[in-house]
Amino acid sequence: MTEARALDRDRIKTLFDLRSSFNSRSGGDVTGDPYPAWRRLREQAAVHEGTVHELTGYPGDYVFQGLPEPDRPHFSAFSYGALDTVYRNPQVFSSSSEPVDLDGEPAATNSMLSMGGRQHRRYRALVQPSFVPARAHWWIDNWISSTVHALIDGFVADGHAELNVDFCAAIPVLTITGSFGIAPEQALDLRAALDKPHEVVRMIQPIVAARREEPADDLISVLVQAELTDENGVTHRLSDAEVNSFALLLLAAGSGTTWKQMGITLTALLQRPELLARIREDRSLLKPATEEALRWMPTDPMFSRYVTRDTELEGVPLPEGAVVHLCLGAANRDPARWQRPDEYDIARKVRASFAFGGGPHICLGMHVARAEISTGIGALLDRLPGLRLDPGAEPPRYIGMYERGVTEIPVLFDR
Ligand code: HEM
Repeated sequence: MTEARALDRDRIKTLFDLRSSFNSRSGGDVTGDPYPAWRRLREQAAVHEGTVHELTGYPGDYVFQGLPEPDRPHFSAFSYGALDTVYRNPQVFSSSSEPVDLDGEPAATNSMLSMGGRQHRRYRALVQPSFVPARAHWWIDNWISSTVHALIDGFVADGHAELNVDFCAAIPVLTITGSFGIAPEQALDLRAALDKPHEVVRMIQPIVAARREEPADDLISVLVQAELTDENGVTHRLSDAEVNSFALLLLAAGSGTTWKQMGITLTALLQRPELLARIREDRSLLKPATEEALRWMPTDPMFSRYVTRDTELEGVPLPEGAVVHLCLGAANRDPARWQRPDEYDIARKVRASFAFGGGPHICLGMHVARAEISTGIGALLDRLPGLRLDPGAEPPRYIGMYERGVTEIPVLFDR
């Protein structure tokens, strides 16, 4: 897939740089480190009144799951135990305030992400088989590996690169659009249309129609062939509206997250050259390095739930209709679960963190994300001897509020 090299670099930068206007609505341009504030808040109480950004010291109208919602009371949870309780009780802590109407306006949130109970289980079961660990190689062999190598081909002769935009950003978007049957030249058009769902639907509709005629070895074919049994026991193939809803969710969830998490992981390793050298020698260490980065700095450190009836959480009364923001960034550093939680330490015993959420909505794409990160970083180590941060360039900085990532990753390597 050599066309990956033809991607417009400036356009990738506009779409993916966290500081660009495209991402600032979720606080992409927040530059301070929120973790000291989250630590203080968690030490004071497991649950506070207010939103995470206000409590962290960044008032504003951010847009993310459960935000802005100006007419509802807001609470935020910061401990591992509080989040665990919420994830285990989806009837009380619902993913949406409204029932999902798949025949209504197309939107990434008008999808299984916002469903509950049996409806959610039925829809999720349709796509789950394509996302299990045993399918990781379907993703790697069809889309990830060729993308990763084409991108490296583009800069391997230069002796230097900026890996955040030129590498990390491009891999997930090309993987997910590739799995839709979209050509690399069109991948950025699709990503740019993310906030115009009708445009995305217009672009994927010819592919949906073609796959209904003749299925191929891709994700849209999985969707058009899937059979859903409704609550009356009647089985039917997914309608176009149902296929579109899945496609919009997967595009939103699968193209913007992994690039930031890969950048976070790469930066953590490049800033620790001895550790990077050990991983170069022993690739089995890449797995704990990735998992520890997910715990230590998850790219999306907050998701929200709607309270369906009066209840309490860690002794704090929550009225029906309130929004509870789950600060999984803070929960992932709860000393009740991890010793020296602020340290990035790949030798610690791996215990499940909330980087991919928890409960019934736990990230569907987590094994694809892990495959993208390990294939990407593994290929960099294979092909770029002496890979190191460029000492003459601005060092990478971690930024962002609800979407966290790094500024730039300027590197040098031996040719
Ligand atoms: C490192 C990268 C990723 C991170 C940190 C991440 C994180 C998350 C989190 C925290 C949730 C739970 C949201 C909630 O509780 O409301 C979630 C859900 C989801 N993610 Fe990911 N994600 C990543 C990559 C991906 C990829 C690559 C895909 C698809 C290819 C994907 C697809 C989804 C879907 C479809 C859901 C909704 C699941 C449901 O509602 O049942 N994610 N993700």
